[in-house]
Amino acid sequence: MTTGVKKKAPEKFGNQFPDQKAAASRTAVEVDSTSSLPIAGSYLIQQDWPAYTPEQHAIWADLVRRRLAQLRQHACREYLEGHELIGLREDSIPNLAEVNARLEPRTGWRATPVSGFLPADAFFEMLAARKFPTTTYLRSREAFDYTPEPDIFHDVFGHVPMHAHAVFADFLEHYGRVCAVLTSPEDLERMGRLFWFTVEFGVIRQQGTIKLYGSGLISSQGESDYVVKGGPEIRDFNLEQVLEQRFSTSEMQPVLYAVESFDEIYHAAQQAESRLG
Ligand SMILES: [Fe+2]
Repeated sequence: MTTGVKKKAPEKFGNQFPDQKAAASRTAVEVDSTSSLPIAGSYLIQQDWPAYTPEQHAIWADLVRRRLAQLRQHACREYLEGHELIGLREDSIPNLAEVNARLEPRTGWRATPVSGFLPADAFFEMLAARKFPTTTYLRSREAFDYTPEPDIFHDVFGHVPMHAHAVFADFLEHYGRVCAVLTSPEDLERMGRLFWFTVEFGVIRQQGTIKLYGSGLISSQGESDYVVKGGPEIRDFNLEQVLEQRFSTSEMQPVLYAVESFDEIYHAAQQAESRLG
């Protein structure tokens, strides 16, 4: 790493690129169409929204208020538009059925509740089906700044608003399709880097400034502060570089890649498809 900046651990990245060794519990209730998800079907659960406590809704509200204060200035316009379009509220944990009622008619994407980290094949199958694996657990107040477990704040507040954007939506589905047929661990590692430097830590140039769109930035005060203060080296997005750029999950990101438009990452997934496998 080229930075000496350390932190105890990153904001959790939920169902980002999967840990192939990890497996979620299979005790969950299946509620979605398992016939269309033969691999991931057994990881689907139902969100028990009425079971969230007033304190959990209060934690959500505090998380949202803190992040929005910064994001109104530093998030890309597509994120902010998506945030409005899917109807996220400041005062309560999202009901995924309500989110999906707004999101699915726009792009076909759904935030689909799952029981935890998914193995790679299940994760890619869901992306290819426009179903984003979404955790329903919310961090405790003791873990306000950091949680080692996936949680609904990262997954829904961080990820899902971008799924309302047509080009990003197409990119993410295509990404899942490309990865679903890769067998080489090296190729999968390269595609993990593409995910990391776009979906998780992507930035875009708008009106001459760097704006955030990656969920690891959107949902993390510390990571965003670091970018806003000019910490990382910002390079022009370059697929070849991204595929070979190693990263650490335990430090602030020393290098980020900025796109000029979301067409760039859509084309990158297409180029990766023709180059890998
Ligand atoms: Fe993530």
